[in-house]
Amino acid sequence: MKENNVPETIKQAVLTQSTPMSIDAIKVTGPDFNTKLELSDIIGSYARMGFQATSVSQGVEIINQMRKWRLSDDPILPDEIDEFKDFEKRATTKCKIFFGYTSNLVSSGLREVFRFLVQHSLVDVIVTTAGGVEEDIIKCLANTYIGDFSLKGATLRDQGLNRVGNLLIPNQNYCLFEDWVSPILYRMVAEQKEEGVIWSPSKIIHRLGKEIDNPESIYHWAYKNNIPVYCPAITDGSLGDMIYFHSFKDPGLIIDIVSDIRSLNDQAVFAKKTGIIILGGGVVKHHICNANLMRNGADYAVYINTGQEFDGSDAGARPDEAVSWGKIRADGEMVKIYADATIVFPLIVAETFAKNFHNDENLE
Ligand SMILES: NC(=O)c1ccc[n+]([C@@H]2O[C@H](COP(=O)([O-])OP(=O)(O)OC[C@H]3O[C@@H](n4cnc5c(N)ncnc54)[C@H](O)[C@@H]3O)[C@@H](O)[C@H]2O)c1
Repeated sequence: MKENNVPETIKQAVLTQSTPMSIDAIKVTGPDFNTKLELSDIIGSYARMGFQATSVSQGVEIINQMRKWRLSDDPILPDEIDEFKDFEKRATTKCKIFFGYTSNLVSSGLREVFRFLVQHSLVDVIVTTAGGVEEDIIKCLANTYIGDFSLKGATLRDQGLNRVGNLLIPNQNYCLFEDWVSPILYRMVAEQKEEGVIWSPSKIIHRLGKEIDNPESIYHWAYKNNIPVYCPAITDGSLGDMIYFHSFKDPGLIIDIVSDIRSLNDQAVFAKKTGIIILGGGVVKHHICNANLMRNGADYAVYINTGQEFDGSDAGARPDEAVSWGKIRADGEMVKIYADATIVFPLIVAETFAKNFHNDENLE
């Protein structure tokens, strides 16, 4: 068909004129393997790749902003208290980083990535679920293994093997955990009754971190570096099983969640700037976001999760939903990366917290 035979209405529909792109519009391009590329070059190319690769790149950028910010970057507010008018104080006051992760991620090899962050005090406040605590401690006692998603539940049950996705955890690991934790629970109950100690989830995790005394553990380093770890549903896992068993032999343990909500929310309220990095959804995501509501929203937010928003779940909600609640600031920097955290988080850490780690003597 000759072009001038095409009816004008069709030409208009298909060949509508574009408005010119802005001069800073980014051209889509991928990495060119004709050039020798390092991992950093490849991740660097993600900004121009599109889809979730571009979101990963935004996550890297936002985390690096959190890390770089100092109070001295901002003007002194008219109602600022004297302590924070001092230049030195402003130059050393950093963005407080809230870090959350679901239990399964500690079962996975991300546990070692989390340990690195906590060992070097690169995050300030942690929220996780019960499995996120006990799986770390249990890994100090026995191993978790790679299995397969398709292994049959009934066969595994006969073999005494528990499956988390494509990971396998022998039942024996939990027996070892009971042997390890039971004497600690006896001492905790005694301290409560005899010395009036009031146990909260964060205090229990601090104690477990002290007792495990193993540098492979996340919570060993959280204890050493005094990084608080919050876990409001601490009984929803093997720790709960152990506390339940223990209650038959030595009843009376009381766990106070009120002091922890006070302490977590205060962490947000008294921070000059906050950033949130949340891997997975559910309690860990909401607990961190809700604490940030108390200060009218976090300044930076990076979510990595596979949740979808069509069902109205908090797990799947995008950062913009949190903006509507005041949990993230409307003018904050935010991104949601739709991905399995085991794939993308090590890449993000490589380009943020771990970048220049081995050659930067001044790393905090
Ligand atoms: N290993 C375990 O998973 C384990 C062990 C013991 C207890 N539990 C208990 O089960 C309960 C539910 O676990 P939970 O709240 O930690 O989270 P969850 O496993 O229910 O996950 C919550 C959401 O996080 C997202 N998510 C999970 N894994 C992800 C990944 N790899 N990448 C990206 N997004 C991901 C998904 O959207 C998911 O729906 C908790 O109370 C926990 O203590 C879990």
